Amino acid sequence: MAKLIVANWKQFPDTKEQADNFIEKLRGLISKHKLNKVIENNKIVILPPYIYADRLIDKAINNVEIGSQDVSKFNQGAFTGEISSKMLKSMGIKYVLVGHSERRLNFNEKNQDINTKIINCLHYNLKPILCVGENVRAKNETANNFRIKKIIFSQLNECLKGVKDEDIKNIIIAYEPIWAISTNANSSVAEVGDVETMMINIRFWFETRFSKEKAANVKILYGGSINKDNILNFKSLFINDGFLIGKASTNLSEYIAILTNLKKI
Ligand code: PGA
Repeated sequence: MAKLIVANWKQFPDTKEQADNFIEKLRGLISKHKLNKVIENNKIVILPPYIYADRLIDKAINNVEIGSQDVSKFNQGAFTGEISSKMLKSMGIKYVLVGHSERRLNFNEKNQDINTKIINCLHYNLKPILCVGENVRAKNETANNFRIKKIIFSQLNECLKGVKDEDIKNIIIAYEPIWAISTNANSSVAEVGDVETMMINIRFWFETRFSKEKAANVKILYGGSINKDNILNFKSLFINDGFLIGKASTNLSEYIAILTNLKKI
């Protein structure tokens, strides 16, 4: 099944030359490793820092999309430093990450802000990738635990408030438990069975809130410490529509190995 593979570069790399270089080398490695078919059969999206997006769009690799790591909650006006949905749209961007836990934590983003961003994105026909996930797990807590489900469902309730039925097809959810993100202390990739349960729960939320038919169109990704090896653990997981990958996507050889392993999942 075609997967959506989203590379979240975060605040990387340090210079435009390094960003150019990464894309140029990636282009070469894709052809060297004969990955063109894999790239064509799946959906590959790279989210660089805003400032590099335009030049990377110009250097576009066939079938590799450049997206955005964030968007302003304001559509227009005097908001220094902000980038609007309309601006992203005008650049040819389709995929926009919203509500990443690092933005919630470091920039105090609330579900209400994220909701406004999502509504604005949908208005401009962009595809928001909404990150949801709990902070920590107590010992023995699973994806089916009431506390965990409550956190995820309230993020979905608040972040997707007012989303219209016809826009559901443009929504992507990334289940990214914060404890699994590679840069957090003692992080580890989530267990496949647990991710499966959470994805079923998230799909169930969409079925209840919208309809079974509409829910089937929502893509649900997993994110948190994915690398070239553990991505293969997920190969039996038919319910999984893809991955949101941070650190491993910024290392060329690791990233190429991930794309290579996509053939097997
Ligand atoms: P990670 O990051 O793959 O480095 O854990 C994922 C993310 O934060 O989006």
